[in-house]
Amino acid sequence: MKDPCDTRIAELFDGHWNRNYAVSKLRTDPLYAALAADLRGSTLPLLDIGCGLGLSAFYLRSRGIEVPILGLDYDHRKIDGARRAAIRGGFGQLQFSQHDARSGLPAHQGNVCILDILQFFDPAAQQELLQLAAARVAPGGLLLIRSGIRDDSWRFRITVAGDLLAKATRWMKAAPTHYPTAGDFERILAPFGSLEISPLWGRTPFNNHWIKLRKT
Ligand SMILES: C[S@@+](CC[C@H](N)C(=O)[O-])C[C@H]1O[C@@H](n2cnc3c(N)ncnc32)[C@H](O)[C@@H]1O
Repeated sequence: MKDPCDTRIAELFDGHWNRNYAVSKLRTDPLYAALAADLRGSTLPLLDIGCGLGLSAFYLRSRGIEVPILGLDYDHRKIDGARRAAIRGGFGQLQFSQHDARSGLPAHQGNVCILDILQFFDPAAQQELLQLAAARVAPGGLLLIRSGIRDDSWRFRITVAGDLLAKATRWMKAAPTHYPTAGDFERILAPFGSLEISPLWGRTPFNNHWIKLRKT
């Protein structure tokens, strides 16, 4: 559905490619609305690991969620684009920093999100990142993850093909390495709190799921 907020977010970016990508992603992917629904009402700061162009941060601001947000990504082109967009939008308390999540995470206590990046990590690095992220969630706070889940569905095969295409077109620096199973999330995250896993693919063909950990 067309929402003028999404067009205004897209206009924050340089170049047709980024603008078209932003507007079509915001209009077709249920991810950002799910994030806003879960974070609404929380006053905790948000750490966004693998933030890309910062679409989630701009979406949250456009829907009235004003918590401090730190976005991290190892791709300096995306961080530069996100920073320019934040200046253009005149948003406060939004920071974007180039950082490789394989080298650990900065200190943080609040909510944390990891949206569509786990597939770039091998199993050991996924486990480490999930544990580091969960340790940064404040009591009562949320770790929100969107990930393709490895199973024997046709959706999973399309998910892998989509990620390979993103690498071939050089939109992503890396090809996918490994997709976690639902059991991996339960094994790694259940010790930190209560965990829910549900489909989040909307009208897309991908095998995306929403993994929500509430820290106890
Ligand atoms: C599919 S994009 C998702 C972007 C954003 N989370 C969103 O959903 O709009 C995956 C992002 O993860 C980033 N990424 C991959 N490996 C990373 C790493 N080791 N450290 C930080 N960022 C990484 C990529 O540069 C890319 O921007």
